[in-house]
Amino acid sequence: MGTFPATLPGGTWNLGDLTVTRFGYGAMQLTGPWVMGPPADHDGALAVLREAVGLGITHVDTADAYGPHITNQLIREALHPYRDSLHIVTKVGATRDQEGGWPPARKPEDLRRAVQENLENLGLDTLDVVNLRLGDAQGPQPGSLAEAFETLVELQQQGLIRHLGVSNATAEQIAEALSIAPIVCVQNMYNLAHRHDDELIDELAEQGVAYVPFFPLGGFSPLQSSALTAVATRLDATPMSVALAWLLRRSPNILLIPGTSSVAHLRENVAGAGLQLSDDDLAALDDIGR
Ligand SMILES: NC(=O)c1ccc[n+]([C@@H]2O[C@H](COP(=O)([O-])OP(=O)(O)OC[C@H]3O[C@@H](n4cnc5c(N)ncnc54)[C@H](OP(=O)(O)O)[C@@H]3O)[C@@H](O)[C@H]2O)c1
Repeated sequence: MGTFPATLPGGTWNLGDLTVTRFGYGAMQLTGPWVMGPPADHDGALAVLREAVGLGITHVDTADAYGPHITNQLIREALHPYRDSLHIVTKVGATRDQEGGWPPARKPEDLRRAVQENLENLGLDTLDVVNLRLGDAQGPQPGSLAEAFETLVELQQQGLIRHLGVSNATAEQIAEALSIAPIVCVQNMYNLAHRHDDELIDELAEQGVAYVPFFPLGGFSPLQSSALTAVATRLDATPMSVALAWLLRRSPNILLIPGTSSVAHLRENVAGAGLQLSDDDLAALDDIGR
């Protein structure tokens, strides 16, 4: 571990009263193919989680729909009893079907069951942060979140959830959530090439709400662009490092949850996110999303 900085790139952020490292870890890649079933290498998956915590990461993103149940059970096996500093963020609002699809499950009874299953699989009495996942596989979709979000607020009042967030949400849904109860984070798709949420990120920063991009590295189809490759080549870095360093520079409320099933990639990503980008680099990278 000698080559790693004592502090993770980006420093920390507060999700309500919970301090997390801005460099976090997204656990979705730990399952079998297409986020279904157990990993091919069970011990390897446990090793990635233990390495994440060993490197000082205190923010792990998960969902009971991953596997389903698999990532939460792996997190529990690898890391329970949890360090006080570790904060696990989960999400509810979607389930899995036999074909590996992600049908919505946002009725009050679905949400109550999902919170209970997250608690059981993670081995917790209270979930630190629960995101209400909206929309569908195509992205955010319009429509009121009131009934679903109010159900989560009730569960929060019962002490089962500490903080709330929303995911895959439109700006209108985020405003609606904020009119009902405080949220600490928004988790939407965003990266160097997909910048629909630029304005939203800046608004959330002003309100002290974290923005947590999913697919920070492009997800299932890695980010590819000649401008990204050119900047990476000039800096003698990987495109992944540039993509992560850019996100940390983009706004102080952005938290990273890159996914990987590999200890080597995890270490590479932590080291790479610390890359210093010049104003010229930023200008070249900005063109990618335009
Ligand atoms: N709210 C939502 O609806 C939603 C949707 C999707 C994801 N998420 C969350 O967001 C997190 C991040 O998304 P993601 O994992 O799907 O996408 P991602 O972080 O953009 O990319 C992950 C992919 O990049 C590869 N990778 C990572 N580091 C690498 C490196 N250094 N070199 C080469 N390849 C590398 C991984 O493969 P290897 O395993 O081989 O490293 C994996 O295929 C997830 O883990 C999940 O927690 C949320």
